Amino acid sequence: MSDMRILVTGGAGFIGSSLCEKLVAMGNNVVAIDSMFRGSEANLESILDSDNFALYAGDVRDVDDLDACIEALGGLDLIYHLAAINGTKWFHEAAHSVIDVNINGTLRTLELAMAHDAKYVFASSPEAFGEPLSQPLTDGDSMVFSDPSEHQRHSYGGSKYLGEIACHHAVRDGLDVQIVRPFNAYGPRLNGDEYGQVIAMFFQQLIDSRELNVHGDGTQTRSFTWIDDVVDGFVQAGMQDVPSGGVYNIGSTEEISILDLAKRIAKFTDGVTISNGEGYHGDVKRRLPNTSSSEKLLGWKSTVSLDDGLELMWHSLNL
Ligand SMILES: NC(=O)c1ccc[n+]([C@@H]2O[C@H](COP(=O)([O-])OP(=O)(O)OC[C@H]3O[C@@H](n4cnc5c(N)ncnc54)[C@H](O)[C@@H]3O)[C@@H](O)[C@H]2O)c1
Repeated sequence: MSDMRILVTGGAGFIGSSLCEKLVAMGNNVVAIDSMFRGSEANLESILDSDNFALYAGDVRDVDDLDACIEALGGLDLIYHLAAINGTKWFHEAAHSVIDVNINGTLRTLELAMAHDAKYVFASSPEAFGEPLSQPLTDGDSMVFSDPSEHQRHSYGGSKYLGEIACHHAVRDGLDVQIVRPFNAYGPRLNGDEYGQVIAMFFQQLIDSRELNVHGDGTQTRSFTWIDDVVDGFVQAGMQDVPSGGVYNIGSTEEISILDLAKRIAKFTDGVTISNGEGYHGDVKRRLPNTSSSEKLLGWKSTVSLDDGLELMWHSLNL
């Protein structure tokens, strides 16, 4: 049990809603703020009536909205900052909004944490490494970005990079800050439309009896991490007594090509075909985490294999 006063920004989104469920079940007082850009009340259905939970529809960049959340909480012990424009298709298409929400949201919530001397957990991303020169992604590796005149996809990775800079600056100012980088989280409520994430998109295409559309030749690889493991990583980063400035790659080390992923998902029904389409600008060939800091400092390791996670995902679709 735990009875902290916790603000979760982006709390009605995919990861945020599962994180709120977990924090509420632990006995914390939790307020979620979300603009509903991609989140929804339905994502929080299981806890909407809980005494120790409230959802506030507002903008993370707006200090009045943030203050209203703190008033509802009666103070602040911990912020999980997850609010962001996420969804790979947006990064190039809506670069201005991505930069505005992601950077200003991070600055405003860091200031809020400072004002209340609250612990701060930042949802960064492996995209903060840009188009890195080596894998697995390891603390201390250079973060490498391509020429912005070619495409603007790195509005997102760049915003996470600057977010990490702002976090480390706040550490120097004495704030307790932890940085979590989830690696391709998947699970129930993951967005499967054209602005969504690949596993949910493949399942959606399969349900709609469409071809599973693989970007490029599908040899690019990713490491997919089951939502409960990702939530555990956030909880541990926020609750454990670890030195300020910690950075944790929260990801499975099971690597799979997107073509093999499509083949595995195609097996859930008969007669599914796979096609090849155009990919996103600046998509990296591999995205594999080095999880040694997470293991050593948080005792965190992913526990759900991709085969088991895909089964869980399939059953969650309730067909
Ligand atoms: N899902 C992943 O695999 C993954 C990987 C790396 C990093 N992350 C990061 O983790 C966090 C959560 O990701 P997610 O997958 O749950 O994405 P998500 O899009 O489901 O959640 C983000 C939430 O932020 C909300 N939001 C957007 N603009 C806002 C604003 N101005 N004010 C308040 N709320 C706003 C959205 O409505 C959404 O509910 C994000 O910061 C994301 O960048 C996620």
